[in-house]
Amino acid sequence: MTLNMKTAFMVGVTTLVAAASTLAYAAGGGTGDYKMEHKHWHFNGAFGTYDKAAAQRGYQVYREVCSSCHQLKHLSFRHLGDKGAPFYDEDYKNPNDNPYVKNFAADWQVEDIDSETGDVIDRPGVPADAFPAIYPNDAAARAGNGGGLPPDLSLIVAARNGGADYVYNLLTAYNTKKPDDVELTAGLYYNPVMDGGKISMAPPLNDEGVEYADGTIATVEQMASDVTEFLAWSADPKLEQRKAAGLMTMLYLSILAILLWFSYKRVWKDVEH
Ligand code: HEC
Repeated sequence: MTLNMKTAFMVGVTTLVAAASTLAYAAGGGTGDYKMEHKHWHFNGAFGTYDKAAAQRGYQVYREVCSSCHQLKHLSFRHLGDKGAPFYDEDYKNPNDNPYVKNFAADWQVEDIDSETGDVIDRPGVPADAFPAIYPNDAAARAGNGGGLPPDLSLIVAARNGGADYVYNLLTAYNTKKPDDVELTAGLYYNPVMDGGKISMAPPLNDEGVEYADGTIATVEQMASDVTEFLAWSADPKLEQRKAAGLMTMLYLSILAILLWFSYKRVWKDVEH
């Protein structure tokens, strides 16, 4: 296949998958009378891109709140500075040199082997490191969370029906009134977005839970929306490039169609038909 055919194929497949998941989403639903709020996300639509400021605030929410329980195992720190990523900077095309990326990496402790003694040590992260695991294994993760297993968040927006709306609503729906027929045992909380209405994650967000450097007021809704924007990026980091390639393909095909039309006219000009 040529590159353009491949792109066209990818765009086609993505559209089908998107259509299928929208249908599945419309059919699914939580408990009680809760109505999912459908937000207008910056990354939806043919020209959609990520809202970089929101995704940057979202990284802060992830780091300061969610990262005590949830890993981002499919990401390395340097991905934060790739083209289309929240911290991409024209001046640092190589994300390993990006000062934000370096600082974020250094803010984590990463397990390594001391090359002289062979001992296992902890050292500050570097851009090439993957986001470290939060717990040594699933059993430890469950033990620390009342039996619940905090899933990896790097692909969660792609993994749940409803995608970004699902994650946003999950984070903001905790204060909905619990219907009487939902029984909660110790360590479970009511959340109408979950099937069955029960979740073992305590409400992670509180107003002003983080302090944003850009002056944005950190309400629960704001933080939920920002962290969702960040997680939408982590689940689909190539979205902007793909949309740009899709548009170029459409343009290319339209020009080709016009040229073919004129050459058809010309070829058959003197023939009775
Ligand atoms: C104190 C630990 C803890 C913190 C902090 C935390 N979570 Fe969770 N989270 C959990 C646990 C445990 C589960 C599994 C819940 C279950 O299956 O009942 C979970 C589940 C989830 C799920 C999946 C729900 C589903 O559909 O299965 C998402 C999405 C999620 N958390 C997002 C977040 C986000 C975003 C943050 C930060 C704003 C966050 N969590 C902070 C412990 C935590």
